[in-house]
Parts: sequence; structure tokens; C-alpha cells
Amino acid sequence: MGKLVICDHPLIQHKLTFIRDERTNTKEFRELVDEVATLMAYEITRSIPLENMTVQTPVAQTESKVISGRMLGLIPILRAGLGMLEGVLKLLPAAKVGHVGLFRDPETMQPVEYYIKLPTDVQERELIVIDPMLATGGSAIAAITSLKNRGCTQIKMMNLIAAPEGVAAVQEAHPDVDIYVAALDDHLNEHGYIIPGLGDAGDRLYGTK
Ligand code: PRP
Ligand code: URA
Repeated sequence: MGKLVICDHPLIQHKLTFIRDERTNTKEFRELVDEVATLMAYEITRSIPLENMTVQTPVAQTESKVISGRMLGLIPILRAGLGMLEGVLKLLPAAKVGHVGLFRDPETMQPVEYYIKLPTDVQERELIVIDPMLATGGSAIAAITSLKNRGCTQIKMMNLIAAPEGVAAVQEAHPDVDIYVAALDDHLNEHGYIIPGLGDAGDRLYGTK
């Protein structure tokens, strides 16, 4: 079973409160999501392997650490995942980016894939799938399945807010995938919205309704 990691750093939790607040306007919302994404990227990369490198300082030669292992790939789920992408890229500027376009049919709540474009070497990379919301889990499961169908094997999931129902669904469908969230909320309502959540992430990021 993949692990669920709640990124409980005080700065993340503080900023998340204002992301949730309905009075936060589009500009502030976007800035806060960007900042939290950077802070979460710090947490999610904690376990990246390191190797030794010899470095000459101005006064001595020493062994120091550099990142080793697989290169990274970031996979934002369109469109709301784009709101977290730049924040993650601030810490991981060398990562390549693949896009998966999915929307949730409002009637059936089933994800519909409308776009996918991935780095050519995506199978070689350790991937982080990015989406602010993990509600029923349908979109995350579909995105991860699409990646696996193209040969990807090392995948993590990153969300601002998850519902217990979505976490359970992803863990059942993809038990090899660890999930990093800023908050695990209470439940889904009858429309598939996370309660208390933050409302519709895409609409709040882009000012649509
Ligand atoms: C939202 C969100 C997730 C999905 C989560 O996207 O960004 O992708 O819903 O719901 P699920 O876990 O039940 O699948 P939405 O479908 O509203 O599309 P958008 O990003 O284009 O607004
Ligand atoms: N998508 C959102 O943007 N918000 C929710 O609460 C659920 C799905």
C-alpha cells in the first residue's frame, strides 16, 4: 500500500487556511497555491537519493553530496494542476514536464481524458503527478493509469487537499504510488466536492465559474 504523507509544516498549514478562505481573491489564491507547491516540493523530495562528489573549496578538497538516481518528471493534470507547476519548478528547475488533460464530467463524475503530451524519456524518470484536488480519485487514477500504460513505473502523487474516499481509491488502484497532501479533509458531498475543501480549484485559480 502506498503511503499517505501529510505535509504539516506550519507555513504550509498557515497558507492553506487562506487558500480555503472564500474571501481570498484570484490573484492571492494563485500566489498562495504557488507558494504551497514550492514548500510541498521540499517535503516530497526529502527521500531523493544522494551520492558523494569530490569538490575543491577555496581552502580544501572534500567529499560532498549531490542528487543521484533517476531524473524527475512533473505531470500536472490540466487544468488546475498548472496552478502548482511553477511552484514545484522553482525547486526542481531541471525537471521535464508532461501534461495530462482531464476533466470530471459533472453528471457522472467520471474523468474524461482530452490531452496527453509527455517527455520522450518519461519511462526513465521518477514522476510527480500534480493536482490540487484529490476528490473521488477518478482523475488521479486515470492519469496514473495513462502513465503506466506508457511504461512509467516510479510515480508519486501531490495534492493540496484530499478526501479520504479519493485516497482510498488511489491506494486500491495504484498501491505503489505514495500520496503527498497538505490536508486530508473530512468527506465528499453529493456533488463530489471535498468538504470543507476550497471549492472548485480550477475556477478559483483562473477566475472562471
Ligand atoms: C478537478 C481537480 C481534479 C479533479 C478531482 O478538476 O483539479 O483534477 O477535479 O476530482 P476527482 O478526484 O473526483 O477526479 P476538474 O475536473 O474540475 O477540471 P479543471 O482542472 O479543468 O477545472
Ligand atoms: N474538484 C475541485 O476543484 N474541488 C473539489 O472539491 C472536488 C473536485
